[in-house]
Amino acid sequence: MVQNVASEMADLESEDFYLLSGVEQGMRFSEWVAREKLPDFADMTAENVDYRLDRCERRGLVERKTIQYEGFKLTFEGYDALALHTFAERGTIEGVGAPLGVGKESDVYEVQSYKPLALKYHREGYTDFREVNRGREYTADKAHVSWMYTARKAAEREYDALETLYPDVSVPQPIDHNRHALIMERIDGVELGRAKLDDAQVVGVLDLVLAEMATAYDEGYVHADMSEYNVFVNSEGVTVFDWPQSVPTDHENADELLVRDVENIVGYFQRKYPHQVGAVDTDALADAVADDDVETVRTFFD
Ligand SMILES: Nc1ncnc2c1ncn2[C@@H]1O[C@H](COP(=O)(O)OP(=O)(O)OP(=O)(O)O)[C@@H](O)[C@H]1O
Ligand SMILES: [Mg+2]
Repeated sequence: MVQNVASEMADLESEDFYLLSGVEQGMRFSEWVAREKLPDFADMTAENVDYRLDRCERRGLVERKTIQYEGFKLTFEGYDALALHTFAERGTIEGVGAPLGVGKESDVYEVQSYKPLALKYHREGYTDFREVNRGREYTADKAHVSWMYTARKAAEREYDALETLYPDVSVPQPIDHNRHALIMERIDGVELGRAKLDDAQVVGVLDLVLAEMATAYDEGYVHADMSEYNVFVNSEGVTVFDWPQSVPTDHENADELLVRDVENIVGYFQRKYPHQVGAVDTDALADAVADDDVETVRTFFD
């Protein structure tokens, strides 16, 4: 598990961040950045590099290996620290609070700011990296570079989707992004999978979710990871979150993915609320969603 670096931030000095971004620069060219290249990348003296490397290594922000040459790389914690530093400098956040969700592919924390916000670190590539790290040295080396790239791309994709969809679709308002991290509005609510809906609410909530999917399609996106775990329910309605894997509607698999999303969400309601939600033609339903035809969508569960 990736440690929460927030508590280390106050101890770090601005030159520690120069060193970390020097390592980051170097990692564009090789998996392990040779110590003697760091004075150039970080624009500091060799003595200062040694001193900063030591401080950062002790805090788990960089990792060292000595095979052939002495090299360093950023850990996920080091990458987190760089993103947090950037957000703090931009004034986006004032501090990091409690975890909101720790997933397979992300860590989400509440953050202090002018209003309740959430910080999501993308961890795509992290599991792969641990898998390949068991022994296969060559691929392991490649994976070291790709986790940063994969996680950064995922954060960019999620931010772009949120920017397009907000506020027409009920998604968390995007606030800022940097590297593999994004800041968004914090949603108060309970995940659909943990909500206990009253009989009278069930169909209405399902209609709301499908209506958001219809508007999203109209705005050019299919969520592509739709499930009861990626929808919040509260007294104001529903919020659909977790968009990094979304695809544009002109993507060759978009319509297949839309059908799968519809099947996932309808299937969940059918299993959990069998008396309220019966069998439906999900292909026809997906067509109505794609046409943003909310009137017709509603008739499926009358
Ligand atoms: N904007 C938000 N406000 C409050 N809590 C959030 C917010 N975004 C995410 N969370 C919490 O963090 C958890 C994980 O977030 P999210 O679903 O976006 O990532 P993930 O599930 O790890 O990604 P994946 O589904 O790709 O594995 C959510 O289940 C939710 O509890
Ligand atoms: Mg999720």
